[in-house]
Amino acid sequence: MRFTDEYLDELAARNDIVDVVGSYVRLTKKSGSNLFGLCPFHSEKTPSFSVSADKQIYHCFGCGKGGGVISFVQQMEGLEFAEAVEFLAKRSGMPLPRQDEQEQKRASKRQRLFELNKAAARHWYENLISNPGNPGQQYIEKRGIEMRWVKNFGLGYAPESWNDLTDAMAAKGFSQEEMITAGLMKPGKNGHGGYDAFRNRLIFPVIDIRGNVIAFSGRIIGEGEPKYLNSPETPVFSKRSNLFAINLAKKSKAGYIILTEGNIDVVSLHQSGFDSAVASLGTSFTDEQARLIKRYADEVVLCYDADTAGRKASDRAIGILQKLDMRVRVLELQGAKDPDEFIRAHGADAFRNVLEGSAGQVEYRLRLIESKYDLSTEEGRVGYLKDSAALLATLPGEVEREVYAARAAEKAGIGREALLSEVERIRKARIRSGKKQEQQNVRPTEVHQNGNREQRYEDVPSAVAEEGLISLLYADPALCRRADLPTEADFSSSVLYKLYSALLRREREGMSVSPAALASELDSEEMSLFTRIISKKQLELSRSAELLADYISAMRRRAEQRSEVDDLRGYAERLREQKNNYKP
Ligand code: CTP
Ligand code: MN
Repeated sequence: MRFTDEYLDELAARNDIVDVVGSYVRLTKKSGSNLFGLCPFHSEKTPSFSVSADKQIYHCFGCGKGGGVISFVQQMEGLEFAEAVEFLAKRSGMPLPRQDEQEQKRASKRQRLFELNKAAARHWYENLISNPGNPGQQYIEKRGIEMRWVKNFGLGYAPESWNDLTDAMAAKGFSQEEMITAGLMKPGKNGHGGYDAFRNRLIFPVIDIRGNVIAFSGRIIGEGEPKYLNSPETPVFSKRSNLFAINLAKKSKAGYIILTEGNIDVVSLHQSGFDSAVASLGTSFTDEQARLIKRYADEVVLCYDADTAGRKASDRAIGILQKLDMRVRVLELQGAKDPDEFIRAHGADAFRNVLEGSAGQVEYRLRLIESKYDLSTEEGRVGYLKDSAALLATLPGEVEREVYAARAAEKAGIGREALLSEVERIRKARIRSGKKQEQQNVRPTEVHQNGNREQRYEDVPSAVAEEGLISLLYADPALCRRADLPTEADFSSSVLYKLYSALLRREREGMSVSPAALASELDSEEMSLFTRIISKKQLELSRSAELLADYISAMRRRAEQRSEVDDLRGYAERLREQKNNYKP
């Protein structure tokens, strides 16, 4: 559903941020119109979470989270933007925007599909638990799945029949067309009739985070092809943006999500007490799935099969997860092909040992190094960087180096690139074979010390000016009409450029720049950054033209220096190559 800026602003007006935040956090007045409380997003003893009644924003000086009332509900309730809007609409008794006829039709069709899927899941579940000794029961017994978990997952049994499900659903008033759309019925030849798509299978309903049954996976009972059959793409199911068991895993307190390949693995893990296990649905891991996980946890434990395909899949997933700044651990199970086999062979405790030890040797040695240095000092961080780089340079796998570099860098509050480039430098020195090494196009990264761990800038002086520019334009929007404003090339930070261009476009088109309206195009982290920038102390607007000129010239000066440094790097690289190729 699309919401107009007017709608969003009205919604924000009817949901005062002080009331909304106040229903989760105890707020007390402290300075001016700002209220303070204990931050609900990180644990703390003294309040660093502030709410501004004037600006209708919140901002935590501890963890850096911030935004308007919609962002707050998104972060607090783990909701998408549109869901948070609905949540607040309901809270304030404001009707949702009128849907046109087409939208209404689509919504009611989806509703029917949810009902059909739910009815199918019920039917298959009944099949499984009634008729003692049926093949489905025999199978779950063989796989060691307990009744309690059949119930929790809503597992079912689709018998070897062409019409068991379709007859039952027809009797409940669902049409053939609906069953075909849901992927439960395959159409017969020349469009007449049809037959059950899932036959002779143990059924795993796929349930989304709102509790809707959106699809099914069916594991063949015994041998046969395909081993797993999944629902096709339907109006209520997209494979690439869902995960099996996320409905259960989202409630886990583990702090990490365990990602496996097989549905049986997931059931087996939950049954053994690992309640944060999920599986992707027969696709390779996607960005959408990573973002879904990120709503609930910042760390993923990869537990793919111990074969080449599994290892390849791991590498891919690691790349995707790290792009989203998520921590990744890779579980390597010895002597078993997957978690289910491992647990059956060695028990849940053995699995927990591997899980807890999966940090492993490297992690342990990194901790030793960490304990040697005071990371709050520049000196300490440099020492830590040197030692950990030396350790990481000994690791043979590139993926391994990347994973641990990311963790070590996070510990020290330095950029991953800085650490990795140091690691590469050491490795090169060690190899010293004169062989051409692939060029690493990295720039040392500095830390932006702003209490916000998420935000790291490659070029701090420039980023400071970029932030200044944004807060100035926000405070004095008339400046947005000027023609000499910076362009993308002048920015060192892509996220700051994104905030800047959203602000500029909205101001120029006369659109709202309220936190509520901006939240429709910025994600939670971007909103946090934006709120931090605009909640800084009031600028002296009498000097705004002067300030503007200062910021712009600072940015352009840095941009020029950056390109010079790049040139120099290229030059040095060419020199090295020439030297390497020179054979006396
Ligand atoms: N797969 C799939 N659809 C699912 C789950 C898995 O297509 N809903 C695919 C995976 O992509 C992977 C394979 O099936 O390629 C996993 O097979 P396997 O590891 O043998 O699955 P298990 O659950 O371990 O099967 P088993 O019952 O034999 O233990
Ligand atoms: Mn298995």
